[in-house]
Amino acid sequence: MAIVIKNIECLVTCSGSYRKKGQEMKDAKIKENAYLIIENDRIKALGEGEGYKEYITCDSIILDGRFKTVTPGLIDPHTHVVYAGSREKELPLKLNKVGYIEILNSGGGIQSTVDNTRSIKMDQLMKESKKRLDIMLKHGTTTVESKSGYGLDLQTEVKILKVNKMLNESHPIDVVSTFMGAHAIPKEYKMDREGYIEDLINNMIPYISRNKLAEFIDCFCEKGVFSVAESRRILQSGQKFGLKIKIHADEVETIKGAELAGELKAISAEHLVATTDDGIAALAENDVVAVLLPSTSFYLMLNNFANARKMIDQGVTVSLATDCNPGTSPTESLQTVMTFACFGMKMFPEEIINAMTINAACAIGREKQIGSIEVGKKADIVIFNSKSLNYLIYHFGVNAVEVVIKNGEIVVQN
Ligand code: NIG
Ligand code: FE
Repeated sequence: MAIVIKNIECLVTCSGSYRKKGQEMKDAKIKENAYLIIENDRIKALGEGEGYKEYITCDSIILDGRFKTVTPGLIDPHTHVVYAGSREKELPLKLNKVGYIEILNSGGGIQSTVDNTRSIKMDQLMKESKKRLDIMLKHGTTTVESKSGYGLDLQTEVKILKVNKMLNESHPIDVVSTFMGAHAIPKEYKMDREGYIEDLINNMIPYISRNKLAEFIDCFCEKGVFSVAESRRILQSGQKFGLKIKIHADEVETIKGAELAGELKAISAEHLVATTDDGIAALAENDVVAVLLPSTSFYLMLNNFANARKMIDQGVTVSLATDCNPGTSPTESLQTVMTFACFGMKMFPEEIINAMTINAACAIGREKQIGSIEVGKKADIVIFNSKSLNYLIYHFGVNAVEVVIKNGEIVVQN
């Protein structure tokens, strides 16, 4: 069965299935008065004007695109969406200026979510996480990357990665798995950090790789968490086992995490708030995708955002994500991230949409299948109730999604 979307005011194709950099990020390949034809799970045709008429058959579903903006399904390439509980108790601490790493090292923060996630049963963890995926889908996200890291022991890390797998199989959203056992040192290893790193390298990584539970490995390379030298060891041992490298780098302080991402030729480096000019150069030279998380900067009250403007000027492929997690970014909405990307990091609407579609696909190695509206690609599409791309970003704080199509099927109709 075919879906025909006709008379589309603003069709944002983001076409070109490769990393968009520099000036190219400012071109979202928009078509006006356009149409889009979907057949089975694929994009069959697109064009401008009346050409859609030849594709209409008696059982076509016809959607009207007047006053609408149509984009590729949004891709969220950095989340910690599988976890148990919530952390609103930390709000007064934050307001009293207790630092993020200070809360973590006193047993709160990530550690408290680890306690909750260890003690919950798998089906309950699945239920809590599915609710968040449902919200994501309603807000236009059709693919997410999901990191483990709230287990910090083999059993719980595996539980989280299995939930990823089950969600991928049962939920309309595609879920891509990253192993992030190096998210913090668990409390039982507080006096023996080397012991935990060895557990990661000798037991957890080999098990996860052998059982094909993750495609990527990530590490929280940050002052007070994992040093550059420790991160290098952990990530390289993941790479030896076939996992592709991602890095949480320079989220709070500059410790040359971006330089490490360049050295290891990581697929992506994420956060990058405290990254220096040398770090930006390392990302550009080594073609590492920068995944920026401006809702996290906002929520951590950093009074600072990653320098998206400089990264784009220097030719770095910039992507955006929610970082959806219970501590530093409790939101499922990439539309919220659009607001911070524009008003916090001064990114243009065309750059933002490229960052959340084709460049996000590049950050998870899926650019040949998703991330742009091109003939033959997967039919993951969002129809926004916005007359232009500018309007979508200009009118903030509401859910502008009208329809979400995933694999050629209408899965949301608001
Ligand atoms: O990306 N930085 C590490 N991980 C998450 C936060 C996790 C948490 O606080 O629970 C982040 O900010
Ligand atoms: Fe994160």
